[in-house]
Amino acid sequence: MALKITVIGTGYLGATHAAAMAELGFEVLGLDVVPEKIEMLQRGEVPMYEPGLEELLRRHVDGIEGASGRLRFTTSYEEAGAFGDVHFVCVNTPQKHGEYACDMSYVESAFDALAPHLTRPALVVGKSTVPVGSAARLAERLAAASPAGAQVELAWNPEFLREGFAVKDTLHPDRIVVGVAGERGEELLREVYATPIAEGSPFIVMDYPTSELVKTSANSFLATKISFINAMAEVCEAADGDVVKLAEAIGHDERIGKKFLRAGIGFGGGCLPKDLRAFMARAGELGADQALTFLREIDSINMRRRGHMVELTRDAVGGGFLGKRVAVLGATFKPDSDDVRDSPALNVAGQIHLQGGQVTVYDPKGMENARRVFPTLAYADTALDAVRGADVVLHLTEWREFRELDPAALGDVVAERRILDGRNALDPQLWRKAGWTYRALGRPKA
Ligand code: UDX
Repeated sequence: MALKITVIGTGYLGATHAAAMAELGFEVLGLDVVPEKIEMLQRGEVPMYEPGLEELLRRHVDGIEGASGRLRFTTSYEEAGAFGDVHFVCVNTPQKHGEYACDMSYVESAFDALAPHLTRPALVVGKSTVPVGSAARLAERLAAASPAGAQVELAWNPEFLREGFAVKDTLHPDRIVVGVAGERGEELLREVYATPIAEGSPFIVMDYPTSELVKTSANSFLATKISFINAMAEVCEAADGDVVKLAEAIGHDERIGKKFLRAGIGFGGGCLPKDLRAFMARAGELGADQALTFLREIDSINMRRRGHMVELTRDAVGGGFLGKRVAVLGATFKPDSDDVRDSPALNVAGQIHLQGGQVTVYDPKGMENARRVFPTLAYADTALDAVRGADVVLHLTEWREFRELDPAALGDVVAERRILDGRNALDPQLWRKAGWTYRALGRPKA
């Protein structure tokens, strides 16, 4: 009989994982403690913008016409415990207030709520990003609190999905990492991931701590790559060099690679910044803080970018923001997402607003979330409306829509044809030809 799967926590990670498991042919029960979220999902609606996810969900949610019916949702742990052979824990681990460490309380409550309902053999699989050492501790807690005792096993299976590509990354992962303490965990996870394994996804088995470290080290490496190129952007600016050319040229070396070398206002989102900090905090607890002191620098190079963008904007409008109109294109932390968590774009918009600028923001998908975080900014319904009367236009999230804007049409409605590209994603020639002053981070002035 096919395995029955539960997915606990239906955020970006969990909602995608649940739909993907149904797509792979399993009976799936998704659980969340927020009833409104469950009601939405049960109607086939996704609580966030993620390309392809709603379609995938609607193909499987029970009760939707033409759907496979393999996917249902609940708020009941009792139901989840009775239903599942494999339970994926996908709750988030945000940064703690005022600390570098991450908040494990959602993970802990999920384990504590599920355990008493595990009355038969089951595999619990942690997917959340956690400090190294958590899995071993949670395994003990689980065995002690589950009626089935030692027949409940724990595996750790970190998730590497990128927002904007969540569906593809989940159905066709570039690797499957599993941390296990026994053979049963590996066996069941090979069954769960049989389809991607058959397609060639590497399945890498290891112990708990290594699996936890794979995730945090992967994110630290990516953050380091971005901060590296942003540090080069700083040097380029000082030396009148061009960081875009530099990135292209070093990227041809296969050992370096072209990806994640886009200089700009830096990384944000719900993962990279907080994972980096939680990793430093955990290394400190383990007495290995020296090994990760460089990450502090990576973090500060990244945060400096936002301030630098504000400075450039201030210079562009003549040294002060008072009475100046600033149009901001982009609010989300990256394109193809509606996520504004720790978004560099919104941070820059907010700083300029707080310094007296009149900021108007437009984003293709992130408006609702941005308004919630920064209700005092002005928001426009289109890019054209946002730039109307602007003294300067900032391009801060590289949506395709912005690359396709017509510089001449925008030029007709702005007060000054001045654009600052915080993502190095627009074509400078195009804008300059249309009479704009184009400036970007890490590139020569003209
Ligand atoms: C990241 C990891 O990529 C993913 O593997 C992990 O599971 C979760 O964290 P995500 O947060 O979706 O995924 O975004 P990612 O595509 O990594 O981008 C992160 C940030 O870096 C964005 O703000 C993006 O704009 C920025 N970035 C990315 C750059 O500034 N330059 C680049 O070259 C690449």
